[in-house]
Amino acid sequence: MTTSDNRLIHVSEDLVFNLSNQHISYIFRVSPEGILEHLHFGGAIAPNRGLSAGPRRVFRCTVLEFQGIKNYQLDDTPQEYPLFGTSDTRQPALHVLNSAGNTVNTLLYKSHQITLSKADLPNLPSARGGASSTLAVTLEDAVSQLEVTLSYTIYEHHNVVTRSANVRNVGTKAVRLDNAMSSCIDLPQGDYELLHLRGSWSREFEAERMDVPQGRFVIESARGTSSNVHNPFMALMSKGAGEQHGAVIGTALMYSGNFAITVEKNEFESVRVTAGINPFNFQWLLEPDEVFSTPEAVHVFSHQGLDAMSQTWHRFVNDKISPPQFVDQARPTYLNSWEAAYFDVTHDVVLGLADKAKALGVEMLVLDDGWFVGRNNDTSSLGDWVTDETKFPQGIEETARQVKAKGLKFGLWFEPEMVNKESQLYVAHPDWLIQVPDRVLSTGRNQHTLDLSRQDVVEYLFERIDSFLSTGLIDYVKWDMNRVMSEVGSAALSADRQLEVPHRYMLGLYSLVERITSKYPNVLFENCASGGNRFDLGLLRFMSQGWVSDMCDPIGRLSIIGGASHLFPLSTLASYIGPVPNHQNGRVTSVKMRKEVGFFASARGLSLNEADLDANQDEIIDAIHLYKATAQDMVEGSFHRIKNTGNEVCWQLNSRCGQRVYVGYYHVLSAPNQPFRRTKLVNLDADSSYRLQCRGMDFGGDSLMTLGFDLPYIDAMRIQADTDYSNHMDQGDFVSRLLVFEKN
Ligand code: GLA
Repeated sequence: MTTSDNRLIHVSEDLVFNLSNQHISYIFRVSPEGILEHLHFGGAIAPNRGLSAGPRRVFRCTVLEFQGIKNYQLDDTPQEYPLFGTSDTRQPALHVLNSAGNTVNTLLYKSHQITLSKADLPNLPSARGGASSTLAVTLEDAVSQLEVTLSYTIYEHHNVVTRSANVRNVGTKAVRLDNAMSSCIDLPQGDYELLHLRGSWSREFEAERMDVPQGRFVIESARGTSSNVHNPFMALMSKGAGEQHGAVIGTALMYSGNFAITVEKNEFESVRVTAGINPFNFQWLLEPDEVFSTPEAVHVFSHQGLDAMSQTWHRFVNDKISPPQFVDQARPTYLNSWEAAYFDVTHDVVLGLADKAKALGVEMLVLDDGWFVGRNNDTSSLGDWVTDETKFPQGIEETARQVKAKGLKFGLWFEPEMVNKESQLYVAHPDWLIQVPDRVLSTGRNQHTLDLSRQDVVEYLFERIDSFLSTGLIDYVKWDMNRVMSEVGSAALSADRQLEVPHRYMLGLYSLVERITSKYPNVLFENCASGGNRFDLGLLRFMSQGWVSDMCDPIGRLSIIGGASHLFPLSTLASYIGPVPNHQNGRVTSVKMRKEVGFFASARGLSLNEADLDANQDEIIDAIHLYKATAQDMVEGSFHRIKNTGNEVCWQLNSRCGQRVYVGYYHVLSAPNQPFRRTKLVNLDADSSYRLQCRGMDFGGDSLMTLGFDLPYIDAMRIQADTDYSNHMDQGDFVSRLLVFEKN
């Protein structure tokens, strides 16, 4: 045992571990029996002054006593990494079929070590270190011959604790992991609410809030992607917490595959939160001396509500997760070929779009799907990453060169993880699909998933993508992925390892994106999976931005951006002005509304056909001008959710310097004779005044924050000629105002 202190981690003689920065503490201890007991995650508590509350031992009829120790039962003992079967009957953090063929294991404290900063997780994305300290606590089970090392990192300048676990087989026979969570936090008894982000294709990130029920509530994915159904994120909060008040613990998993976040409230009302790889349909054979590493779980604490939680996430994502080379970079405005030409892209079409882009002031042309050999519709060719020479006779390189000669950047679409059976790749390598024998495989958009658990597949994809990026002509890659997994298995693995495929796939995917993105650090990567089907902190470690949803109707997008903003900063979000009637929901909205909702993202662009571009040319030129002028503020600014009544949404973005404040106010459906609305802005300088640009009026920062300001009024009739309509919304449904305040 080593007992040492540093600025952020204190360990007492009796093994109380106190991880604290100025604002938060994470505290646990070793019980006399050797169990790691959780004591606190929340506001800062200095070490060594005595904790005023902690785990208690009482006699309860009908419950068990751990190892026969009087009144010590693990079912109501808060723990750090609990197991099932020795008086704890709740969801365990670890469940292992040991070499004796049972799942009864007990982990007791063995040693600990403190290091400055934080090491990267092997083969998995993890938050960067820096001003931080890491505590590694090793637990052992001498009977099952298992060792588990729990890693905790606390940051000096972020109210964040990260956790992960390594499970090592120190025996002589193989064991089987059935569940290995990244993290478990047992919260004190209390009334909590939870918020999570649910959805589906084109309606991702809908925030749902509910009381934590007695029983077990799970958000999870078993689809092979983190999924658009549940994002791997959950906030647990004191009952009644709001945007600006209340205690909130946010948990997110840095993982892009099958995950589960579980909240369990048991008969004694203690609340357990576990986060990790989904134990459903998961097994991992661990041979002697092998180590299994879990993904990283990230926990944040806010005592000032959901807004402060989001600010913590946003700063942490920007500082420690997103690729550092782009995080502060204004992103180029772009024109994407998809809605303009779909699969009918050719050299001439692309050059024509490039001319249009240039005339509109756009900075980048993105060539989407349809450019590779034989790809004329979505039934064929995925996997054959070779230029279609009937469409691009001189190769993509020459098209890229000519686009760039016009002063534009050039972007290219790939969907590397997929294959159509109608492709040269499938004919050559039918065993490269994710598959099980003797079954007809389900298709999704006519395609199949390549088996990235295989090194030969990863090598092939690296070579193909590299052959395009090595030309130095590609500034941006849209990395798409358009189906989830089914009939999951690998032709390259033995029968007893088939349930390892989803996680092995993730390890293969991460190794591929790590290799490519580190070889081309100046290429901007955008993560897309039919929109937000894999929009998570795992891929964000490699790809600076994500296509949050295929939904580009502005009304449809309001709840998506509002929901995603709980975790993701605007620096990670991409948007575009798409066509009307909208291709996802058929709604018709003005260019103004599309522009003003799409405003709140860092990567902003257009996906319109030439007729739409021509018909709306002036408004689009204005939009692109606005986007370029505000691009730096989007990556650097702080975003706040100000109001959301369902029919009305208001967002605020403060530039990093505090000089500019952007307020977007959106109204869904019109109605007559509305009440007046007022809203309070946040995080302004109370002692300064701010000028509302469109009306030339000055307001005090204190007044804007405490009194609020009068939101534009929705007057459906507007029949009095002598009324001042400068603070009104447009008439009708689906209207918006974008207000800009400048600090005087
Ligand atoms: C997905 C994406 C679209 C487009 C198409 C191309 O649907 O979400 O933006 O790239 O694939 O096939």
